[in-house]
Amino acid sequence: MKLCRTCHKQLHYNNLWLRCQQHAMHSQIKMTERSGKCNILKFVKVLSFAFIFVILVIFVAATVRTLTFDVNAGLQLAPWEKTNNIAYDINQQQRGELLANFKDAIRIPTVSTSRTDQNTTALRDFNDLLRKAFPTVFSSHLVQHEVVANYSHLFWVPGSDLALVPYMLLAHIDVVPAEESDGWDAPPFSAKEIDGFIYGRGTIDNKQSVMGILQALEYLLIRGYSPQRGFFIGLGHDEEIQGLHGAMNIVKLLKKKGVQLAFVLDEGLAVLDGVITGLQGPAALIGISEKGHATVKLSVSMAPGHSSMPPWESSIGILAGAVKRLEDNPMPRLFGEGPERGTFEHLAHKFGLPLKFVMSNMWLFSPLLGRVMERSPETNAFVRTTTAVTMFNAGVKTNVLPSQAEAYVNLRIHSSQSLQEVLDLIQSIVGDERVKMELMHGFDPLPISSYDETSFGFQIIKKTVLDQFPQVTVAPGICIGNTDSRHYTDLTKDIYRFAPTWFRPGDAQRFHGINERISKKNYEELVGFYFNLIQNCDIKDLPSPHSAVHEL
Ligand SMILES: *[C@@H]1O[C@H](CO)[C@@H](O)[C@H](O)[C@H]1NC(C)=O
Ligand SMILES: *[C@@H]1O[C@H](CO)[C@@H](O)[C@H](O)[C@H]1NC(C)=O
Ligand SMILES: [Zn+2]
Repeated sequence: MKLCRTCHKQLHYNNLWLRCQQHAMHSQIKMTERSGKCNILKFVKVLSFAFIFVILVIFVAATVRTLTFDVNAGLQLAPWEKTNNIAYDINQQQRGELLANFKDAIRIPTVSTSRTDQNTTALRDFNDLLRKAFPTVFSSHLVQHEVVANYSHLFWVPGSDLALVPYMLLAHIDVVPAEESDGWDAPPFSAKEIDGFIYGRGTIDNKQSVMGILQALEYLLIRGYSPQRGFFIGLGHDEEIQGLHGAMNIVKLLKKKGVQLAFVLDEGLAVLDGVITGLQGPAALIGISEKGHATVKLSVSMAPGHSSMPPWESSIGILAGAVKRLEDNPMPRLFGEGPERGTFEHLAHKFGLPLKFVMSNMWLFSPLLGRVMERSPETNAFVRTTTAVTMFNAGVKTNVLPSQAEAYVNLRIHSSQSLQEVLDLIQSIVGDERVKMELMHGFDPLPISSYDETSFGFQIIKKTVLDQFPQVTVAPGICIGNTDSRHYTDLTKDIYRFAPTWFRPGDAQRFHGINERISKKNYEELVGFYFNLIQNCDIKDLPSPHSAVHEL
């Protein structure tokens, strides 16, 4: 006799599981449930194995990349041979003369206060100084010189080999205002020496290059040098107020002559020593692009009225809401999508673990790194288009409802965004038709110049830096400010922004700030840099990466 296993009733039919009809269903469900659970368990197991496997593969790949990743391989590492340069040795007398010229330049207050306010007396004095300081440059039959827009200068030094495409060096004469009362240790136009440093407005922005380039040319000419590759020198007098007269007219002249340039080297980035946390040794960052720019005016107009019968919302309230939404909703995080990725990859091998691991694998870690970097304003600038509300104007009287409220927003556009994309985003973030938006001034991020092993300008600059400072790591970088060189995009595809000015911790604040200064040694090095750069440019073609490796 068979009994149901659950209720022990007698079974009148054959049942494999020994359950009565009532309980058979139940147990079958349980059975399928159990096997279902089994399947899920199996699936989870397989999934976690697969997951661990994938993680393992990623980890191995990342490790292999960390160990083998060397963007400095080949030509980029090799300071190739070029032994016929005239050596840059200056005697004691020349050293005194070079510093005296530089100090004279600092003492002339070539201040650009606003678009309509420049010290033209100082600019005229500066014209005279250049002629006095560099007599050979101005008298040599090798050099053609032209004054542009009264105070800017264009020099042309033709090369003996007409087949070589010329290049161009840029710098600017004007400076931003400076007041001793802001806390300077020396008057800002005194060029006073303190502990081996020359203090003054313009010492690192950008008279070190104005004077450095011409001083180098002066010494080269005195020693009988004549170039194979021709080059231009452009010195603007209004860079700090956008170069609308200087740089723009120089470019116009060059365009009229049909000039195309192999590359342009302007001010911008520098040698950073101890500035990047975790990096072993100094880094020379060569600017390969600049962020774009947009100044946007937001305004709200309403009927004016008496404050005793106010409407529910005022123009001020509406505009304040719009501005607050812009601050609360930063532009998207784009870290790793622009050339900042190249900076980290080039520097990776100079970091210790675990940073080396992270930076060698930007394909994996850039979202994470972006999240870390956005926490401080200095590094956030590399992560996204930044939004800064800079002006807010409304109201004229305490008891009158203002008809008009306006705010200005200043945005610096990340390399992988366009001006139009940014404007569209602002419109959608503001999301209020009563707020009118007007673009006052703006341009897209600058194109990205080449920096691979076939890039003539980048490699020449890199070689010159490494010959002079072998301890330095050279990497491409991004300028978050703008320079005169942005007017040159029709003349060349390769614009670089760099001078071997050494920045140590705290020095970046001197830029447009107080106590701007340069060491005497560093200024001499700058002259030496341009002295060798000009000669290095005489090479017809870059050596092939392969042959450069063999030379090692
Ligand atoms: C303009 O520059 C000249 C010297 O070149 C100087 O004497 C004068 O004080 C400067 N003007 C102002 C307003 O700073
Ligand atoms: C150059 O100077 C002259 C006279 O001083 C002036 O009329 C002219 O507008 C100036 N040109 C530029 C481009 O500043
Ligand atoms: Zn500058």
